[in-house]
Amino acid sequence: MRRVIFNQKGGVGKSTITCNLAAISAQLGFNTLVIDLDPQANTSQYVLGNKSTQMNTTIVDFFQDMLNLSLRKKELQQFIQTSPFNHLDILPSHPDLAELETKLESRYKIYKLRDALKKLTQYDFIYIDTPPALGFYTLCALIAADTCLIPFDCDEFSRRSLYHLIGNITEIQQDHNNNLRIEGIIVNQYESRAIQSKKIVKELIDDGLPVMDVYLSHSIKIRESHEKSQPMIHLDPNHKLSLEFKALYEKLHQPHGKK
Ligand SMILES: Nc1ncnc2c1ncn2[C@@H]1O[C@H](COP(=O)(O)OP(=O)(O)O)[C@@H](O)[C@H]1O
Ligand SMILES: [Mg+2]
Repeated sequence: MRRVIFNQKGGVGKSTITCNLAAISAQLGFNTLVIDLDPQANTSQYVLGNKSTQMNTTIVDFFQDMLNLSLRKKELQQFIQTSPFNHLDILPSHPDLAELETKLESRYKIYKLRDALKKLTQYDFIYIDTPPALGFYTLCALIAADTCLIPFDCDEFSRRSLYHLIGNITEIQQDHNNNLRIEGIIVNQYESRAIQSKKIVKELIDDGLPVMDVYLSHSIKIRESHEKSQPMIHLDPNHKLSLEFKALYEKLHQPHGKK
């Protein structure tokens, strides 16, 4: 199953949610792959620590190979790295990904990631982190995915842009990927004592948006988690946020697609 995490707004928690859900999946014994499609490479840093800057191969090599005119294409498998965590592999990103984007766009390569991922049958779950824009890489990811999770940071500007975002995803669904399903909006950085957080989330629910009913709290512990390159369940398994991530994971994997 391939799950993409997307919101065109930066700083809403895409990378944090991708890595923490993937870490839980791997800890449960599922073979899990994280794909980092953001040139900022935050997810790569989060999973691999400082080793992320010393990788011999990254997703850049995969896309670069696509532009190569040689007929013998390399398999995506060759660019994947193991992580320090059992059952968790990663296809890291690199800042050079940004420069490649225009070349790839002009060569109509949007289906190549999907085709390559279909061959990776050894993984039970693939998590794809995206850059904060609906550009070439995000489009590739939404075409390659079965489902989409939308992180939401309880901000009024973010709330307004959600409608536009869902419209964009629906259009991609219609034009490129009939299988794509929005699994839900993930409320992140929720402050249960702040009236504003409650009000904004209530508005989304009242508008009929598919808000997941496990909210992720605002916690400064996440900074330490990033700094130490330790997803929450490894850093502090009983922390409130770790328990929320686990509850969210379980909700997503509940039978009958109940929210
Ligand atoms: N639940 C949370 N509580 C507190 N800070 C958070 C939380 N989730 C994310 N952040 C912070 O918000 C910032 C953006 O998170 P990140 O996952 O990098 O978002 P994105 O990938 O959407 O840009 C980071 O500095 C991170 O520490
Ligand atoms: Mg990110």
